Amino acid sequence: MANNQQPRDSFGTKLGIIAAAAGSAIGLGNIWKFPYITGVFGGGAFLVVYLICIALIGLPVMLAEFIIGRRGQKNAIGSFKALAGDSKWYLSGTMGIASAFMILSFYGVVAGWTLDYVIKSLTNTFAGLSPDEIGGVFGGLVSSTWTPIAWQILFMILTGFIVVAGIKDGIEKYAKILMPILLVILLILDIRAITLPGASKGLNFLFKPDFSKLSVEAVLSALGHAFFSLSLGMGTMITYASYINKKENLGITALQVTIADTAIALLAGVAIFPAVFAFGVEPSAGPGLVFITLPNVFQQMPGGYFFGILFFSLLSVAALTSSISILEVVVAYFSEELDFDRKKATILATVAITIVGIPASLSMGIMSDLQIFGLNFFDTLDYISANILLPLGGLIISVFVGWRLGRNNVRDEVTSGGKYKAGYIPVFLILTKVVAPIAIAIVFLNGILG
Ligand code: TRP
Repeated sequence: MANNQQPRDSFGTKLGIIAAAAGSAIGLGNIWKFPYITGVFGGGAFLVVYLICIALIGLPVMLAEFIIGRRGQKNAIGSFKALAGDSKWYLSGTMGIASAFMILSFYGVVAGWTLDYVIKSLTNTFAGLSPDEIGGVFGGLVSSTWTPIAWQILFMILTGFIVVAGIKDGIEKYAKILMPILLVILLILDIRAITLPGASKGLNFLFKPDFSKLSVEAVLSALGHAFFSLSLGMGTMITYASYINKKENLGITALQVTIADTAIALLAGVAIFPAVFAFGVEPSAGPGLVFITLPNVFQQMPGGYFFGILFFSLLSVAALTSSISILEVVVAYFSEELDFDRKKATILATVAITIVGIPASLSMGIMSDLQIFGLNFFDTLDYISANILLPLGGLIISVFVGWRLGRNNVRDEVTSGGKYKAGYIPVFLILTKVVAPIAIAIVFLNGILG
């Protein structure tokens, strides 16, 4: 295989690494899923638990993945094999391939909705509609058969196309230019949202915790979403880190990506909840929350027509910089471990994942009767991947770095062989050895059995 003779593809610049890793982390998870599950689980208290999960579990696990990937210099499975021989650790990478399949299959569906919303915005579909009617437009889209599938297929083709183009030309170039624009749009939306009449109700909902509302399930979902939003627990950051230059400071990079990801989620929350209350949308409306709320906001702002188009276009791009990172996990595995040609691996993975996504799309329409433990197929994929597989993967990654890789390897990798100071190493080791695994295990067992 070519990989054995040539140096591996790598990210060109420092900004490129952060942009690519942040591009993976920042996506529909921040702007679609975070607000909707925060709404479902009652607001502020959920946010507090989520932030604790990010700081105590997410951040250390991200650094752990960076360490494994850059030290292993391979995909999610190969890196474990490179670092731990043939012991069974690599099976967590295998589990990651399964997570990647599940996540991307429903992710592609939601990304398809955002593409459809670009067109709906262009054609001014929402003009003059009441909040209820806007809700109806969303319901009409997701319950129809062919339209969402067509968009999902288009989105998956775009994803596959960029992954074939390779790391430098594909991922890095797009992420660097477009993500900062998304940030600016969100800030503008925030300003509009908090100046809506009655905005304070939404801000209270988001920032005033009421812990009596917090359920065990909410805690598990907060943990699962910390992994989902930071792209952890299935090998994405392992795979990306294998492309990071040996000279980069991994600890700083992990911190920057975590802060950027969390900030975008909060900005999305601030844009959405004031509007939820101002327009009388149910905060617990579910997966449609963003798609129903924001078109109302665009109706109520100068230049809203253009902001709407721009917002849904950039959200599609954010989804794309995430979806390529999910597909990359599968493709790197197929091409490096199974010796598939990269192009063939990409086509195979893209087609398979798209096919699994079709019933996910239909589960909000003609297949809504198909329920698994009370969840439709779309929610089942989401639940199993985010709430079960990712935390489990994160637990293994954390234990692996804390106990198996050990202090000297960790020190060597995070200091780039002594180049950087890393006074946080003792704290990091306590978090990965003890705190994160125990916290994940407790939340997990309570959530699953409780
Ligand atoms: N983090 C991305 C988002 O918030 C989705 C994503 C990309 C992901 N890669 C991942 C989720 C790996 C879990 C694991 O939209």
